[in-house]
Amino acid sequence: MASSADHEHVIDTGKGTFTLEELGPLMPGMAEIMPQVGVRIWKCYYAGQARNRPLARFQLKEAVNLMEKGAFLRPKYVENMDKFINEEVAVLGKAIDSEDWDAFEPAFVAMVDAANAYHEVYDKEFLRWKIPEEPPPDLDMTPRR
Ligand code: HEM
Repeated sequence: MASSADHEHVIDTGKGTFTLEELGPLMPGMAEIMPQVGVRIWKCYYAGQARNRPLARFQLKEAVNLMEKGAFLRPKYVENMDKFINEEVAVLGKAIDSEDWDAFEPAFVAMVDAANAYHEVYDKEFLRWKIPEEPPPDLDMTPRR
């Protein structure tokens, strides 16, 4: 049976080529993925402020997808990422799903505190994420009627 050891898989970008083995180190790590998580979470917050359930839910799900991708590509984060998603993120998800907007704010704050505590766990105590003061300028937060 042919294996990848028998032959080289060459990836052609149209501008140049590299081998399949070289793809691994090119895959995004947390330094690339986390800022995207921050943007999704920012949107989730202001969607919740606007009582826009589908948008808040969508942004939270996209943030989770990114966090799962980050943990898949960097397995040392798997355990704490799963814990975070199943605990703090799940509480926020429930508040959104049930449109319990009074529970939304405290659940959100608890989730951000937990995220920053994980940053500390990984010796990144200088990375303290905070909710931007303004809503994201590129999306209409108003719920559709
Ligand atoms: C609400 C959830 C979270 C948000 C909004 C968030 C946000 C961010 C942002 C914006 C950065 C990049 C800062 C910068 O370089 O300018 C970052 C970095 C990082 N985050 Fe998170 N984070 C969250 C949850 C987590 C969790 C749960 C973990 C681990 C289990 C984690 C681990 C890390 C690590 C290791 C870095 C540093 C990456 C590097 O090496 O550059 N984060 N985070």
